[in-house]
Amino acid sequence: MQHGGPPPSAAGIDPADLVALRDRLGHAGLDDHIFRVTETIGAGMIDPLRLPLVRQALRARGDAVSTLALLLVYATPVAEKDLRAAVGDAASDLLIRCGIVAPAEDGEVVSRLRVTPFGPLLIAADHPDAGPEAVMTPGGTTSLLANLIPDEISGRVLDVGTGPGTLALLAAARGADAVGTDVSERALAFASFNATLNGLSVDLRLGDLLAPVAGEQFALVVSQPPYVVQPQEMEHVTFMHGGTRGDDLALALAAAVSDVLTPGGVALLKFDMPLADGETATEHVRAVVGPAVSVAVFEQPGAGFHLQAVSYAALHDPTLGADFAERARMYCAHFAGLGVRRAAATTVVLVRPADAAAPRFTAGVAARALSDWDALRRRLTALEAAVQDDDGVLGIRVRAAEGCRLAVEREVDGADGERRYFARFEPGAAVSDTELAPIEAALLQRVGGGALVADVVAGFADEIGAEPAAAAEPVLNFVRENVARGLLVLADQ
Ligand SMILES: C[S@@+](CC[C@H](N)C(=O)[O-])C[C@H]1O[C@@H](n2cnc3c(N)ncnc32)[C@H](O)[C@@H]1O
Repeated sequence: MQHGGPPPSAAGIDPADLVALRDRLGHAGLDDHIFRVTETIGAGMIDPLRLPLVRQALRARGDAVSTLALLLVYATPVAEKDLRAAVGDAASDLLIRCGIVAPAEDGEVVSRLRVTPFGPLLIAADHPDAGPEAVMTPGGTTSLLANLIPDEISGRVLDVGTGPGTLALLAAARGADAVGTDVSERALAFASFNATLNGLSVDLRLGDLLAPVAGEQFALVVSQPPYVVQPQEMEHVTFMHGGTRGDDLALALAAAVSDVLTPGGVALLKFDMPLADGETATEHVRAVVGPAVSVAVFEQPGAGFHLQAVSYAALHDPTLGADFAERARMYCAHFAGLGVRRAAATTVVLVRPADAAAPRFTAGVAARALSDWDALRRRLTALEAAVQDDDGVLGIRVRAAEGCRLAVEREVDGADGERRYFARFEPGAAVSDTELAPIEAALLQRVGGGALVADVVAGFADEIGAEPAAAAEPVLNFVRENVARGLLVLADQ
């Protein structure tokens, strides 16, 4: 069935009753834990392929939370008596009254909308096949941004393209004065409902990108703008399509966002960037954002184009029928026509320096360094320190990143053979293994568990029998490059 229809409505309902509904669903078990069961089934496959197995697993469990997950998350009709047994009559009636659930044939109920647990929140959104104005359910990429929102916030936070309000509501739940903007009236209707459902208050504004907040400033801006490529002949789907290249809208936002950042403010933008051979995501962003901001691009390889084409086509047509096949072909042909070879999945972090005269940094960083706000903040502080002028960098103390081991390798049969040096980390560490030039290995050893950069220069000058001035350049380059790649951190971090 094609989903859609009116957004949920709180009209005539006491807001306290909606909060009680949220609590009732939570008490019945509808929280993030259910995803540990369902999202490991066929992980990585497109949803229509794995959903039969997810449904089977939930039916086999047969408990209250499985009934709710089947109905509200996985678009599966359930017996009305099972819903009533799971959450009681009052909550069941309210789900029907606000338009989330509708009675169907044979004593069953169906969900018209999707209700997803997201941390402390419940978020009503559309099923993805609800047409060109579908409102996006929070997903993995939303969680990635959510992890980067500080646990406690006192300032103003802006969520651009808020959709059903997910990130703005999360920021509000963590203490922020939150504003959510969206170009879609339908999205804002969902966001408003979700604010009531979660007993939170957010300021919701309609309009294109930053237009609704022109002249205002925020300590934190978060956004997951639409970033799917739009083939010319395909109709525009507001939550997905970000322009011909896909990243057009996101880059327009990146270029303008410094206007709404407070001094010291940070913008976190999540989107995919298609890249031509030889092009890097970091250079691409730096070229559009101008000199006002520092740039750190946290990158991981994106899905290949065939997989992307299939995933996007499946959002349009989850039946995987003729429409799916035609759209998959259109996406593939479009990617081929763009002349790009790969897409990078990026989180772009833009910082407006607190001191307007401070130098700006530009860094490309592996995405796994980006676990939470504290890790991000530490990395930004280190990047700020390492981009200072030479005297500034000589005055900082650095150390090797946690868990770094210096490994020396030599061919087994090469008694006098060349040695190779590596900085190695445990699997899953925030920094990846890196081969080092011999001089870098020597400097890494000097830095060890913590050293003033000026002292590293003096020791290195002694070692090579040079004046400190001559030893400074290679040491400063070593510090700057390796702070950027995370091998070195500030000693007090
Ligand atoms: C990928 S969804 C993200 C939803 C939600 N923020 C999240 O992270 O789950 C992108 C959102 O941007 C909105 N959008 C699309 N074009 C926009 C524009 N020009 N200005 C503001 N919002 C826009 C869409 O309506 C949609 O809600």
